Amino acid sequence: MKPIRVGLLGLGVVGGGVWTVLSQNGGEIARRAGRRIEVVAVAVRDVAKARALVGPEVAVTTDGMALARDPDIDIIVELMGGDTVARDCIREAIAQGKHVVTANKALLAVHGNEIFAAAQERGVMVAFEAAVAGGIPIIKAIREGLTANRIQWLAGIINGTTNFILSEMRQRGLPFDTVLAEAQRLGYAEADPTFDIEGVDAAHKLTLLASLAFGIPVQFDKAHIEGIAHLASEDIVHAERLGYRIKLLGITRRRPDGIELRVHPALVPDHCLLANVEGAMNAVLVRGDVVGPSLYYGQGAGALPTASAVVADLVDVARLQMADPEHRVPHLAFQPDAMSDIPV
Ligand code: NDP
Ligand code: HSE
Repeated sequence: MKPIRVGLLGLGVVGGGVWTVLSQNGGEIARRAGRRIEVVAVAVRDVAKARALVGPEVAVTTDGMALARDPDIDIIVELMGGDTVARDCIREAIAQGKHVVTANKALLAVHGNEIFAAAQERGVMVAFEAAVAGGIPIIKAIREGLTANRIQWLAGIINGTTNFILSEMRQRGLPFDTVLAEAQRLGYAEADPTFDIEGVDAAHKLTLLASLAFGIPVQFDKAHIEGIAHLASEDIVHAERLGYRIKLLGITRRRPDGIELRVHPALVPDHCLLANVEGAMNAVLVRGDVVGPSLYYGQGAGALPTASAVVADLVDVARLQMADPEHRVPHLAFQPDAMSDIPV
């Protein structure tokens, strides 16, 4: 069977991770997907840098749009970040009838309604497991595992960089700036780390989770956002003396008057599970009316954990392509028609 041909936009932390995972576990992945998944072209800013990683059989360009338009490419994997070139390339790929996999929560939280509607109209999938909580399959859990539930609320640690900073400041007494630089070195932070430390990245992810959990459009502009930049080491020390850990939480819940969306530092009693989520780990607690509470935990950022989620989406798309069209499960991430009755 012909391999699935992928155009990879971005070969940085996550794109490099995807390349590694496909090289390392390619055989197993092909068996699970039903066909080989082959990266045939890559778009980057600096071609020379990419050449050091991929072989001469892979086309390398700075023109992501050319890949989106290339009729020989089946799927576009967008791992560039940002909301300009990435948005144009994704819109073009959809227009060309290609499925898209992306980790770009900043783009989807703000422009998701337009992108998902375009994908729905064109009958293609926009998959984004890697956009929320790194390697934790939280999108699948909400969309599939908890589908019998009316979700009442969810709360969690959904930014690895800030959790790493708060953990290192508490455990090792290191200054904020030193730990932030380390988070950047480890590939956890966003290209603009103010997104992490000001709580914006967590709010992007919370927006996507709320959309899935409650069947509402993405509405990033409704989120209350407060980050950790104003916290001092003394705050962390005092909290600990009183039996608490400071955690940056994202919380969303149903209320009679609509959906609450908030990101802010919170004092979490140190015996609670969430208080003990340390380093770049993430955890999301979801309360469904049927299942009760369930907790999802894992590595929230970094090359390989995030690539694990990207490749899982690629396998989903490959399986979807092989399914008899009449028996395909509708696989769109968010379906505007399926909005709940909740005022937003
Ligand atoms: P990086 O900055 O490490 O990589 C970005 C890649 O995109 C680089 O290869 C860069 O090229 C390329 N690129 C950027 N702009 C363009 C452009 N205009 N045209 C062509 N290529 C371009 O970012 P990350 O890998 O960390 O993040 C990628 C995406 O994944 C972002 O949306 C991020 O939010 C998301 N994400 C990141 C996670 C992480 O842990 N890092 C986790 C979950 C999601 P060059 O190499 O030449 O600079
Ligand atoms: N900057 C993000 C974080 C990457 O630290 O959580 C994962 O989405």
